[in-house]
Amino acid sequence: MSHATSAASNLPISRQTKQGLYVDPQALSAHLPALAYKDNALYIEDVSVKQLAQHYGTPCYVYSKQAILDMYQAYSDSFSALAHKVCYAVKANSNLAVLGVLAEAGAGFDIVSRGELMRVLAAGGKATSVVFSGVGKTHDDIEFALKQGIACFNVESQSELALINNVAARLDIRAPISLRVNPNVDAKTHPYISTGLKDNKFGIAHEKALSVYQQAASMTHIDIVGIDCHIGSQLTEVAPFIAALDKLIELVHSLQEQGIELHHIDLGGGLGVRYIDEMPASIAEFAQALLPKLQELNLTVFFEPGRSMVANAGVLLTRVDVLKPTAHKNFAIVDAAMNDLIRPALYQAKMAVIPETLPTHGLDTEGTQPWDIVGAICETGDFLAKERLLTLATDDILAITGAGAYGFTMSSNYNSRGRACEVMVSGDEHQLIRKRETLESLYANEMLWQKN
Ligand code: LLP
Repeated sequence: MSHATSAASNLPISRQTKQGLYVDPQALSAHLPALAYKDNALYIEDVSVKQLAQHYGTPCYVYSKQAILDMYQAYSDSFSALAHKVCYAVKANSNLAVLGVLAEAGAGFDIVSRGELMRVLAAGGKATSVVFSGVGKTHDDIEFALKQGIACFNVESQSELALINNVAARLDIRAPISLRVNPNVDAKTHPYISTGLKDNKFGIAHEKALSVYQQAASMTHIDIVGIDCHIGSQLTEVAPFIAALDKLIELVHSLQEQGIELHHIDLGGGLGVRYIDEMPASIAEFAQALLPKLQELNLTVFFEPGRSMVANAGVLLTRVDVLKPTAHKNFAIVDAAMNDLIRPALYQAKMAVIPETLPTHGLDTEGTQPWDIVGAICETGDFLAKERLLTLATDDILAITGAGAYGFTMSSNYNSRGRACEVMVSGDEHQLIRKRETLESLYANEMLWQKN
């Protein structure tokens, strides 16, 4: 089976009824690269979800190796006309196995902490293919990254620039930098994940960038190598990327007039994915729109995609523990919760929940009931999905799709719950890539107060 494309039709995947939202599991799986129903049972690549749930227990994150590689390849192919580097944004999914697969395929990495850099190195990635983003780099972060020889710091403020220069001077090396420009472009996404507006904490205002570049050019231990921006996440349209690129191009020309030549332009990440009904631009469409402008620039192009590389390569498997119909609402209490997957609670994100086994009454809403899929955590905000039309029984296994990005990496131990295990599938093989946390490990770093 080709995991890159399945026989997806353009028929609607979901239907909002008075009772709730029905997501057609078969239609959805046809749009997702690694999932398919075979004889009514859900498979990820060639491994049955039932087998995975039995073998590893639940909750459990499962990722398709092929789907990740296919997305990387789609970026590489779509921009093959240009010198380019895909620097995968580690924050989306930082499991060593995921990083290792991408490092082997030739990806670079976008990091935002020393911890992420250490992960990249531990997974076999090269520091020379790493760009370091983030608004709060510390002295120690900078020193570590410089010693490792990273490709570029994406600098977000003048004070960071001065700090990098000082640390580099002390180490007697030159620090390669880009300025992260805040182009004041509306990414038309959730306000928490919009980053390119002047009210956001990110980047250096477009109007100030030229003078900060001039300042950087006068610093003794700074090498200006690029220009960078990242305007937000889960963008479904190409227009905001173009608007940001236009502003960057203007700056590149102004810099050239000042004698400041760049090596690369970094367009950040942000391309959205289909969770249920979203119709984001494909990577190929994204490339088609940007390529003419980029080709004229004649710079190496960096991208920092996170979500679009891994979201739909992954699912979170969970088991129905308790069914609790009430006079007003039906609750299905599952063994995953907001500590495992916080996106629905934090961003009101709608993610699809599909059954491991298709119901015998066939597809569509017949025989279904509306269920709120909730965790066992003591908060009303602890929900994974609301008012979904499903046919449920206790012990059923459900898959929450689109969970490969910002799923495990945003998980916590709230309510003293151990974090889920992670599994990677390739063809008919599957491997544990992170053990389920033991409950003892949750307090292993803690000490009782000692009486004197
Ligand atoms: N580069 C920088 C500097 C970033 O801040 C981000 C994401 C990316 C790249 C990758 O963006 P992506 O391709 O994944 O959209 N937790 C949120 C998403 C936060 C995104 C933060 N920055 C969510 O679950 O929706």
